[in-house]
Amino acid sequence: MIRSVVRGFGAHLPEQIMKNSDFEGVVDTSDEWIVQRTGIRQRHIAGEGETTASLGEMAARQALDRANMTPADIDLIICATSTPDNTFPATAVNIQNRLGMHHGVAFDLQAVCSGFIFAVATADSYIKSGLAKRVLVIGAETFSRILDWNDRTTCVLFGDGAGAIVLEAAEGDGSNADRGVLTAHLRSDGAHREKLYVDGGPSTTGTVGHLRMQGREVFKHAVGMITDVIEAAYAATGLGSDDIDWFVPHQANRRIIDASARKLGIDDAKVVVTVDHHGNTSAASIPLALAEAAADGRIKQGDLVLLEAMGGGFTWGSVLLRW
Ligand code: UT7
Repeated sequence: MIRSVVRGFGAHLPEQIMKNSDFEGVVDTSDEWIVQRTGIRQRHIAGEGETTASLGEMAARQALDRANMTPADIDLIICATSTPDNTFPATAVNIQNRLGMHHGVAFDLQAVCSGFIFAVATADSYIKSGLAKRVLVIGAETFSRILDWNDRTTCVLFGDGAGAIVLEAAEGDGSNADRGVLTAHLRSDGAHREKLYVDGGPSTTGTVGHLRMQGREVFKHAVGMITDVIEAAYAATGLGSDDIDWFVPHQANRRIIDASARKLGIDDAKVVVTVDHHGNTSAASIPLALAEAAADGRIKQGDLVLLEAMGGGFTWGSVLLRW
């Protein structure tokens, strides 16, 4: 059986850091409120000249280096983003060009905060079907550019950054001992649009628009949707929370992460948390967290890693993989 195995990982964050205290005096908020309700202490914000593609390119280069590969080895680039450099062409195509790659195919995938999960599942399908052998999967965002900086209920929550992995086709025996993606489960339900959306777009307002969120409504659905797709991963593989080495959730809110881990019976020590220093970086949050935990030696080859995300749409999904 063909498996999609992680060969490299990379991350890139803008240099500029915005601490919670930097919001005080700008909007009616406090470090105490933000930390208590979200766990966020700081976030990175793209500076002049930094864009989703430039952040994505840096993360991609790192992932290629760690994989001992060059752009010549890649046949597909998928960039998960909701904050593209332009309405078109796709940010993935921009990154392809920045990498000096003029073969293969590159496209964006838009599933908001679940984007990286959707992109890994899509890359896995390309690899399993034989359509691609080596895929660069990127999650890259500049949410700071679509925030309403006068809206305290959203502007304190998000940050910018990019992460990437290289997936390569490898023979496995089809068992849970294989390295690579073991199972992926994706869901969406457009009935929840109003709870988290951007109030602009090319075919409605002709503007980019700003992020709008009914945070409490999103929160209410989050834990149930997250556990639903993780239980689907367990049912598909016969694995369970005790088998997981690392839980790498989408980093939206520390309270959602803790509640999901508790409901699933995943030990706190196995949970990778970056929301405190990255904020919510949407499609970039999982590859950034993966890169951090793999770079510092927590995630090792052979570890069973559980990824999940939930976001605008709603979209939600899980990926269970052996590193
Ligand atoms: O990544 C995509 C998925 N997104 C998420 O998962 C986000 C999910 N939602 C959340 O993380 C939380 O709902 C929030 C962090 C957005 C909000 O936390 P909450 O505990 O649900 O607070 P709330 O919305 O119920 O607001 C409580 C109070 C309100 O005041 P009143 O109406 O009680 O007087 C808000 O106006 O907190 C107020 N508030 C703030 N106060 C200080 C909202 N934002 C702020 C703020 N600073 N920044």
